[in-house]
Amino acid sequence: MKVVSVVGARPQLVKLAPIADAFAGTEHQHVIVHTGQHYDADLSDVFFTGLGIPQPDVHLGIGSGSHGVQTGHALAALDPVLAAERPDWVLVYGDTNSTLAATLSAVKQHLRVAHLEAGLRSFNRRMPEEHNRVLTDHAADLLLAPTEEAMRHLAGEGLAARSVLVGDVMVDVCLAVRDAVLAGGKPAALPEGIDPTEPYLVVTLHRAENTDDPERLAALVDALAGLPVPVALLAHPRLTARAEEHGVKLDRGSLRVGRPLPYAGMVAAVLGAAGVITDSGGLQKEAYLLGRPCTTLRPQTEWPETLDGDWNRLVPDPHELGAAPWAAVATRPAPPAPRGEPYGDGRAAREVVRVLTEAGR
Ligand code: UD1
Repeated sequence: MKVVSVVGARPQLVKLAPIADAFAGTEHQHVIVHTGQHYDADLSDVFFTGLGIPQPDVHLGIGSGSHGVQTGHALAALDPVLAAERPDWVLVYGDTNSTLAATLSAVKQHLRVAHLEAGLRSFNRRMPEEHNRVLTDHAADLLLAPTEEAMRHLAGEGLAARSVLVGDVMVDVCLAVRDAVLAGGKPAALPEGIDPTEPYLVVTLHRAENTDDPERLAALVDALAGLPVPVALLAHPRLTARAEEHGVKLDRGSLRVGRPLPYAGMVAAVLGAAGVITDSGGLQKEAYLLGRPCTTLRPQTEWPETLDGDWNRLVPDPHELGAAPWAAVATRPAPPAPRGEPYGDGRAAREVVRVLTEAGR
């Protein structure tokens, strides 16, 4: 069997790592195509080196642009690559513009598409990721769902016959890296001004709905800067670019700004932290898997299982809470509720290879 994985953005590289590893010990041919949606070393190269992913077989170098331009460039660049490879499966990951482009290119060429992380929904039709994941699920031939909830969404949209519950490959990578980090005993590389021996929070903010409106961005940064503990803000280039454009100063109050961390660095930073504040889907789940309370700066989450037992709390607007209650939520201790295994047991990538092999016969 020949499988082409198409990736392009940071979270897809994290998911690619366990998949590439699972293919490595098999007779199958696994080809990696990188669209180049993310091109900064911090968002791309360090994930290949840090997670031991083989270098991409093909790199398309599409870069940034509006949704249409970025998706269109990737689509045009992928056509000849997939035509030449003619794999048994095109494997697409998550919900980025690269995911949608690869899906369209493949289905138009009658190549079978498998969607990893199928069935997630925010039901917020203003999110670019929601467009990408709904369109991808409806176009793909095989839907690899991470959770029971995702399976229910797919069934509700008439897609049950194409859906398989495989678990979440992010558990595979997160738990393996956690064990390596704990065994290595190295402290996290935190932004200057954060003392790792004192309580601190890890924060990321990159969603378009939080960064692109100047007023919303300024209000969120104000709320973070006013927290009573040091805040390590690991700034995605989108946040840095929009903050500069809108004249929003990031380095103030409790905020200490650093660059995005490689995967093991991020796991170490979260393990050392008192809690996490984020709008990232992946980080919400990593906080849950690593046992740190998370506050999510969004009105909804694609990972509602993390909300159980107050491990994750949705706060769409910190100012609506008022300064003191906001600080109390953001710095709340880890809750006593046990965490289950809603995302599987860390063997999802092998299951993906098994399901692709079975379905490909
Ligand atoms: C994309 C995904 C999002 C995912 C995120 C992870 C879409 C619609 N969104 O958002 O789902 O959570 O990746 O990071 O696909 N930039 C750089 N260097 C880079 C990449 C981006 O400076 O290597 C800056 C550019 O200013 C660019 C902006 O970030 O315009 C946005 O990048 P883009 O790839 O469009 O989306 P992300 O916000 O990264």
